Amino acid sequence: MKKIPIIMDCDPGHDDAIAIILACASDKIDVRGITTVGGNQTIEKTTNNALRVLRFIDKDIPVAKGANNPIRRELEIAESVHGDSGLDGPELPQPTQEALEISAFELMAQIIEKSDEKITLVPTGPLTNIAIFLLAYPHLKSKIERISLMGGAAIGGNWTAAAEFNILVDPEAADIVFKSGIPITMAGLDVTHKAKVYPEDIAKIKRQGGKVAVLVAELLEFFIRFHRDICGWDFAPLHDPCAIAWLINPDMFTSKKLNVMIDTDGEHTTGCTVTDFYGNNKQEANVDVLLDVDRFQFIDMLIEAVNKYN
Ligand code: BDR
Ligand code: CA
Repeated sequence: MKKIPIIMDCDPGHDDAIAIILACASDKIDVRGITTVGGNQTIEKTTNNALRVLRFIDKDIPVAKGANNPIRRELEIAESVHGDSGLDGPELPQPTQEALEISAFELMAQIIEKSDEKITLVPTGPLTNIAIFLLAYPHLKSKIERISLMGGAAIGGNWTAAAEFNILVDPEAADIVFKSGIPITMAGLDVTHKAKVYPEDIAKIKRQGGKVAVLVAELLEFFIRFHRDICGWDFAPLHDPCAIAWLINPDMFTSKKLNVMIDTDGEHTTGCTVTDFYGNNKQEANVDVLLDVDRFQFIDMLIEAVNKYN
């Protein structure tokens, strides 16, 4: 079977780490590179976390460090969700592999340039690196198959009333990406809040045995604590793996192609992914907006993934 070649651009992050584990386990996906961005934590920490996860799952994938700071703003981190390390909870060994000397956007360019096939980008953090790449290498845009991203929401936000974290951290970068003309799949809060993981799902994952199953369960145990204590929910929404799960099995999802634009300087709406449900703006639909997921198939996919490492 032909695999989908991807580059993951992430800020691990509990859910980013699980997205990496899911992608690396899939026989439908070929992870050609991983680039990191400041987001959930500073760039040093997110890069170290990506490398620690790769060591743990024993995958030798090139990693390059990207931007710490958003294009025009100070970095805002999500320490309240992911802890001081950005990946608090499980014990993970320090990496043996180092990040490459080149930067995230240079690694993206190298991989895309040398590939015969078009590459899919999977950003699961702020879109800073992707925007810099598009500005620096406009001629490589045509070699990008699609961007399957976690970010935004057609309705509501999780960091402000109107904005989701990844888009809010760097709305100027998001604006560049959403206006790029590249096909985009948006796994925003509309769908990720339906990718619910309950304590019984975590227990089931842990029961699979194997060190990766235990790691994923421990990541989720930490992640669910924030959602229980701060949001009062009895589940964790598993955001970032949705951007990968859609590539593996789009049939699990319900989506609608809509026009989505970014508000970069609204009084109350900065970072909002303004989604034109009714076509009022008469603009071309530029985004496949994921709206729902079959949660049971999603959990089964995670379980299948952790078992691949046994
Ligand atoms: C997004 O923000 C981060 O905290 C998560 O890793 C995810 O990418 C959800 O809003
Ligand atoms: Ca993330």
